[in-house]
Amino acid sequence: MYRLLISLMLLLATAAGVSAQEKDETGTFTAGKGTFLLNGEPFVVKAAELHYPRIPKPYWDHRIKLCKALGMNTICLYVFWNAHESEPGVFDFTGQNDLAGFCRLCQDNGMYVILRPGPYVCAEWEMGGLPWWLLKKKDIRLREDDPYFIERVAIFEEAVAGQVRDLTIGNGGPIIMVQVENEYGSYGASKEYVSKIRDIVRENFGDITLFQCDWSSNFTVNGLDDLIWTMNFGTGADIDQQFRKLKELRPDSPLMCSEFWSGWFDKWGGHHETRPAEDMIAGIDEMLSKGISFSLYMTHGGTNWGHWAGANSPGFAPDVTSYDYDAPISESGQTTYKYWELRKTLAKYMDGKKQPEVPKAIKSVSIPKFAFSECAPLFDNLPDPKKDRDIRTMEEYDQGFGSILYRTALPELDGPAVLSFEAHDFAQVFVDGIYIGKLDRRFGERQITLPACRSGARLDILVEAMGRINFGRAIKDFKGITSDVELSVDIDGRRFTCDMKDWEVFNIEDEYDTYKDMEYKPVMSITGKKGQRIPGCYRATFNVSKPSDTFLNFETWGKGLVYVNGHAMGRIWEIGPQQTLYMPGCWLKKGENEIIVFDIIGPREAVCEGLTEPLIDKLQLETPKTHREEGQELDLTGYTQVYEGCLEEGNGWQTISFDKPVGCREFCLEALSSHDGRDMACIAELYLLDAEGERIPREAWTVTFADSEEITYGNRAADKSFDLQESTYWSTAYGVPFPHSIVIDLGGQYEISGLQYLPRMESSVPGALKDFRIHTR
Ligand code: GLA
Repeated sequence: MYRLLISLMLLLATAAGVSAQEKDETGTFTAGKGTFLLNGEPFVVKAAELHYPRIPKPYWDHRIKLCKALGMNTICLYVFWNAHESEPGVFDFTGQNDLAGFCRLCQDNGMYVILRPGPYVCAEWEMGGLPWWLLKKKDIRLREDDPYFIERVAIFEEAVAGQVRDLTIGNGGPIIMVQVENEYGSYGASKEYVSKIRDIVRENFGDITLFQCDWSSNFTVNGLDDLIWTMNFGTGADIDQQFRKLKELRPDSPLMCSEFWSGWFDKWGGHHETRPAEDMIAGIDEMLSKGISFSLYMTHGGTNWGHWAGANSPGFAPDVTSYDYDAPISESGQTTYKYWELRKTLAKYMDGKKQPEVPKAIKSVSIPKFAFSECAPLFDNLPDPKKDRDIRTMEEYDQGFGSILYRTALPELDGPAVLSFEAHDFAQVFVDGIYIGKLDRRFGERQITLPACRSGARLDILVEAMGRINFGRAIKDFKGITSDVELSVDIDGRRFTCDMKDWEVFNIEDEYDTYKDMEYKPVMSITGKKGQRIPGCYRATFNVSKPSDTFLNFETWGKGLVYVNGHAMGRIWEIGPQQTLYMPGCWLKKGENEIIVFDIIGPREAVCEGLTEPLIDKLQLETPKTHREEGQELDLTGYTQVYEGCLEEGNGWQTISFDKPVGCREFCLEALSSHDGRDMACIAELYLLDAEGERIPREAWTVTFADSEEITYGNRAADKSFDLQESTYWSTAYGVPFPHSIVIDLGGQYEISGLQYLPRMESSVPGALKDFRIHTR
């Protein structure tokens, strides 16, 4: 009897122990030894990256189900600060912005959620997600320990947490992890700043697993001891190499690629980016076979509605409206070859479970061509001006988005004069209403020649803001005219320059109401001066019998923004590659629909139609895209050879030191051979080092010559060698024989003592340079 009692007591104790343990670990997600632990059990995260503001709300469920049917178990998402807080303290978490609703929908579909609330996110989104109004404090230090910046971050994170705190795994919700900042290593080195963000996140989100993501080349710079470290890299990368350093430093850490890039984003004026499905799938297969967690960025990219597309830097490379990303699920939610192949691969890792059925596709329809019957010419529809002696940026006039017109009177000009200024981002100059020319920030254009004119002639400078830069140090990106406006004339061989003053400034806010309330006239009654194109708003109605998805074609238009039934659809620009805008059927009505196009150049023909397939790779360019004029050869007149040597084989950074520092403004790298013996040279990233061995800034660099660039099948132009992106690269066209050369104007005089070179990240390292020479001038 006594023994029985003891056994019973033991049994009860063990049972209690087990249930206590279960109770303890239910609702937990943690880092265990070499693996994540979900409710105490080993768990491999298979996450699909989706951004709710980039998908029409009525389609959220469809897109989540598509991810689930792939075999994913988690949705990874960013929170875009600027989409939620349009003015300081004014928050919106409704409709498209219903973050909590989106998370609940993920949970309803049996998906976990990884939350990435910034404050900075990059993501090819306006200013990397930061609100433009931060720039009203002109001296603000963004993403640094600036008291105002930190104060606003804390307010924002509190608001986000207020929406989703109840949805963490500990509270029975789907959110398993929260990210702190985003790839800070490609911005700066400050553990103090990253710690501050961590503390704010921790304070607001409570007891939840936190992580930080970076590149394998720089994650140690800002890595905090108490956060999980994850790596970001793209399709084609050598996976063991990507985790080598992390495994050395933290042998027990679970491994996760928190952004495995399925494709890439598109910029205006460049071809649509694609990455081979086979490479993406091989990467996922390899990771899963090794128990490595991942998030596939993007599994479905969606659309940068309205003015939300960002811009890349160094240089200025504004992103297009489509965020198709060559992802497995297309911009409009269609399954692709990549999708079906990926689904087959993920089927191998379902632990005996079946993948759910793939939801039915949303059918796309065509809409017959229709003409725009009404136009409101911009110059007849300007808002009331502000008067200002000096010229200022948009932000200083409290304007965040849209266009701005600066007007003043010219002095009498007997002959041509030169007008110099810096405009962000696309300026058109008019004298007495006649179009003179444009300055395009993408090309660093800063001067325009004015014709002779009468005293008092009206000078108009119309500047359109594109997306604010979302990557690198240049995110502090003011819009409008950002310099003085200088007028120079040559008289008897001498140059006279004066600053233009006394401006009238017209703020043309990008809002539906701005465009809707203009005064429209029949298009037929308007003719441009000397046959010029007419900037302004164009309005039409079109009929739809059965609303469904379509792609509105703007091939004959200039540049601007489109609204349908009051929905901001995005930017258009005739140069391409994107010519159509994705029009979700859920935003169309049966019967009559209204469309307004604000075209700052003016259409060649004011017509539109709905296509069943998108046109996202059709360029219509005026200027050549390469860094070599026809027949031009490498010209080393005035250059001195300062180094000759051999680079090593394999992946990873290599540093070359010259015998002694040399002063120069121009730099030429002449590659003589490659390691694989093929006729192709590639550079992923290139830095020059100053006399102290520090990297010199690359913001002002321009390529003045590259003997060959692969721009037919991909965007492999020479400036990719200093675009701060380790996964993009300069490649010569395959089959063009060595030597290959790139010449860079450094934008100023520097002492240089060596260089750092990063080859491509694939394990076969295509185009790895071997013998090379350096020349400087
Ligand atoms: C980085 C960023 C992302 C995105 C990708 C490129 O990984 O973290 O936000 O910008 O690059 O698409």
